[in-house]
Amino acid sequence: MHSVVNANIINSEPYLEVDGISYLSGNIKISGAKNSVLVLMAASLLTEEKLVINNVPELTDIAVMSNLLQEIGVSLYREANKLYLSSNSIKITELPYNLVHALRASFVCIGPLLARKGEVKIPMPGGCRIGARPIEEHIKGLKAMGAEVIIKDGVVCAQIISQRKRLQGAHIKLNCQSVGATETLIMAATLAEGETIIENAAQEPEIQDLANLLISMGAQIFGAGSSKIKIIGKQKLNGSIYSAIPDRIEAGTFLIAAAITRSELSLSPVIPAHLGAIIEKLEECGCSIDIKENAIKITPGKELKSVDISTSPFPGFPTDLQAPFMALMATAKGTSTIIENVFENRMQHVSELKRMGSSIHLSGNTALIEGVKELIPSCLSAGDLRSSAAIVLASISTKGRSIIKGLHHLDRGYENFEEKLNKVGCNIVRKGSKIYQSETMQKGLEDFTDLNQEVA
Ligand code: EPZ
Repeated sequence: MHSVVNANIINSEPYLEVDGISYLSGNIKISGAKNSVLVLMAASLLTEEKLVINNVPELTDIAVMSNLLQEIGVSLYREANKLYLSSNSIKITELPYNLVHALRASFVCIGPLLARKGEVKIPMPGGCRIGARPIEEHIKGLKAMGAEVIIKDGVVCAQIISQRKRLQGAHIKLNCQSVGATETLIMAATLAEGETIIENAAQEPEIQDLANLLISMGAQIFGAGSSKIKIIGKQKLNGSIYSAIPDRIEAGTFLIAAAITRSELSLSPVIPAHLGAIIEKLEECGCSIDIKENAIKITPGKELKSVDISTSPFPGFPTDLQAPFMALMATAKGTSTIIENVFENRMQHVSELKRMGSSIHLSGNTALIEGVKELIPSCLSAGDLRSSAAIVLASISTKGRSIIKGLHHLDRGYENFEEKLNKVGCNIVRKGSKIYQSETMQKGLEDFTDLNQEVA
């Protein structure tokens, strides 16, 4: 048994103590999709009526988005996995820098706020750890719909200049299949005058989820999930009660957890069609996959062989699973090539996996991984959200104790990550508490008394 714990190196920052090697068995419940819910929350800005979103995970990203919406006047109440939102009285259309900076995804509020209020000021979200992440596709699309957009002192200031105070339908062709830009423009177009066509649209399941919510609010949207989307604008949208899709990235991460520990595991609920690329690669490396309606079971072979992956927009291999998959390849037989095509700086897990004895040669965004018999436990630090999951998975496959810091990344995007893994046989202890701000979401109950039965 290796042991690398040195209490002196651990300061007051929360950390995980992970005791490998765990063989997993049982069923993991998959949470609602973080990247869907964040945008569904922004869509509440499109209506004066109330919106109830079910299947909302408890995550810091969701809490930050909640804080941001509350700052601009949205009433919000959370009970278990249900979120109640009312954008009846938006006070301001200028988003606070600190919250936009904390959550890049909040930039999609530009579309609904502009469409509903006629103006919006939103700080440039800037780059982040995984890349520069420009926003010109959002802005170009809004300009095509008749908005005047200028960037002044790092703030994007957009307003509708037409006398009728509505955005105008437009024919937009995106230069890249941006998920965020497609979401911004779909939301803006639902309240625009006339028809909008978005070509080269992103096809991710989260886009379909957004379109389904908007359709339930009375919007007319055709073709979401394909590369050409048509939206016929409406004067108003109504409220709705809607359930977010299960998180395909969380599901993919747990499939990899099963594979890396060579354990049999079941997951539900999932939408199998959202997991096509990861299922294909897991089968190729020697796992068998059994799908029954909304449940999936993985049975890995004793020895897994290396396979190559190259990330690309949906339905390709998701960039958000690249880091966890690399952890798996570090323990597979043979040599694997992993190419990251979506973001320019998404290889932060490489140094940590190397610290665990893996053999990885990185050249730009291409990693050559030579599988080793076993990884060794270590003291590790997460550099971004998906890297944090990757190093937890690598740790559970080792013989011994690892220490993992940087948990604010993990808590952004994985609901009860270590609890879920412990339930199926892992031995992970969190020292220190989660950074989660649910208290602020309990404030607005009085605004939802007419939905009392739902709230009770
Ligand atoms: C979404 O980010 C997700 N975030 C990301 O998940 C995910 O990795 C990404 O889509 C790709 O699937 C949310 O949904 C909140 P993009 P987004 O705009 O919308 C370039 C996670 O770990 N681009 O589709 O910001 C861009 O630089 C996160 O949960 C432009 O060039 O991604 C990138 O290379 C991280 N110009 C590519 O497109 C633009 O104007 C894809 O970005 C916009 C984007």
